[in-house]
Amino acid sequence: MPGTPLIERAPCSAGDPLRLGVLVSGSGSNLAAVLDAARDPARALRVAAVLSNVAGVRALERAVAAGVPALVEDHKGRSREAFEDAVDAALRAHRVEVVVLAGFMRVLTAHFLERWKHRVLNVHPALCPAFPGMHAPRQALAHGVRVTGCTVHLVDAGVDTGPILAQAAVPVLDDDDEAALTSRIQAEEHRLFPAVLSALAQGRVRLVDGRPRACGLAAR
Ligand code: GAR
Repeated sequence: MPGTPLIERAPCSAGDPLRLGVLVSGSGSNLAAVLDAARDPARALRVAAVLSNVAGVRALERAVAAGVPALVEDHKGRSREAFEDAVDAALRAHRVEVVVLAGFMRVLTAHFLERWKHRVLNVHPALCPAFPGMHAPRQALAHGVRVTGCTVHLVDAGVDTGPILAQAAVPVLDDDDEAALTSRIQAEEHRLFPAVLSALAQGRVRLVDGRPRACGLAAR
């Protein structure tokens, strides 16, 4: 394989899986897909902690049901730096190696990201750089695009920006409403995100000429 592994680490294995910290704000269907994948030892993934900035969300229930520490750090009434310091401390306390944004609806600043360089991944329900921010499927319908999809990317300080690791295309059908399109996109997210995380764990996400590349993930 060309290039060098994105993260410095001994190869992950069933006995030494990549420790993920999953940040959530809502329903957690992507968390569920990652938890499912982590049950397969060949994927070399472990969800070490789930952290929400909103109490009482379904994602936290999914974490508890899976026997994973379910943490809450409320962003309200705190500076961005204080919130991010608390998230950072919680992740480190659970020996997290890679941070997974799975429907986490807070923008992380350079204050946090510089400490987790190349170690924060996000999934977004559009073909980035199209339709950043909230309600990407609604934006796709409003623009009348015929093809949209989902993107897994490394996170920088922008909104749904940062080097793209993998994408999957999804058709927009004539009778789609927002719910139908969202559900078709999320089915692809649930396949793609765990596949990229496994590739990362197995050293197949590599820096080639300074650019991150996920090897062995066919475009769809
Ligand atoms: C997912 O579709 C994810 O791509 C999106 O939020 C949803 C969360 O669903 N993220 C963004 O829009 C980020 N800008 P989930 O909680 O069921 O995984």
